[in-house]
Amino acid sequence: MGVKIKVGIIGGSGFEDPSIFKDQVEKEVTTPFGKPSDVLIEGVTNGVPFVFLSRHGRKHQFQPSDVNYRANIWALKKAGCTHILATTATGSLVEDYKPGDLVILDDFIDRTWGRPCTFYDNTRGGPFGVCHLPMKPAFCERARQAMITAAKARDYPFHETGTAVVIQGPRFSTRAESLMHRQWGGHLVNMTTAPEVVLAKEVGLSYAAVALVTDYDCWRQDEKSVSVGEVMATFAKNMDKARTLILDTIQLLKADKDDSYLEEHVLTQAGSVMYKE
Ligand code: ADE
Repeated sequence: MGVKIKVGIIGGSGFEDPSIFKDQVEKEVTTPFGKPSDVLIEGVTNGVPFVFLSRHGRKHQFQPSDVNYRANIWALKKAGCTHILATTATGSLVEDYKPGDLVILDDFIDRTWGRPCTFYDNTRGGPFGVCHLPMKPAFCERARQAMITAAKARDYPFHETGTAVVIQGPRFSTRAESLMHRQWGGHLVNMTTAPEVVLAKEVGLSYAAVALVTDYDCWRQDEKSVSVGEVMATFAKNMDKARTLILDTIQLLKADKDDSYLEEHVLTQAGSVMYKE
């Protein structure tokens, strides 16, 4: 029973190497928007086909503003994915979201600039028209609920909601910026959720992301600033949780008998395009 799905997995910082998956087949692809960050790695987990893609490349060669988000999402869509489940390392902007905790993102504030953030720019081979997507909800609620169910079942320390402030990077925030992000209502800060989630919506995919809290950024009074070493060490220590959560979520999505939400994503996307050919 269950619906027919194929799940794209975008592995963020600390989850570049998908060697946990068995019987993988690597596929080098290109798109009208250029090349994705790395090869697509196709496989099957407990009967569900998946496609793994390392967001920054397996050698972490692309900084957040140089990731070809459009090629990544387009490639996963063309590979036949119905969903994308993503991981992201994040700093915490609130006391209660502690390093090591998982957070199922439900909203974001986009502070990035200069990143191609729509497929609708008349790129040859891309779609035609002008696309005004609604962004509430920002993430697929059905996939989010599956992640929440998976986190509860494992008894992981996690938060059902979280707003990520997405900064341009590659530098971390100043203390003044960090304090401002807190005032805005952000719970977390990272560098990649935008435009990734937006582009997934533009091709009608179900997209959900689990954030792994790696640090307290730099807003706390008597603490030093976040560092790459701290981020990677905390991620490495907790990576199993994020990975298991993704694998469990895939099984829950497969067991979900109602797939009408997938059609809704497609309809929302189609209904957002003006000036059609
Ligand atoms: N990724 C992990 N920690 C971060 C932080 N403090 N700021 C931005 N991106 C991050």
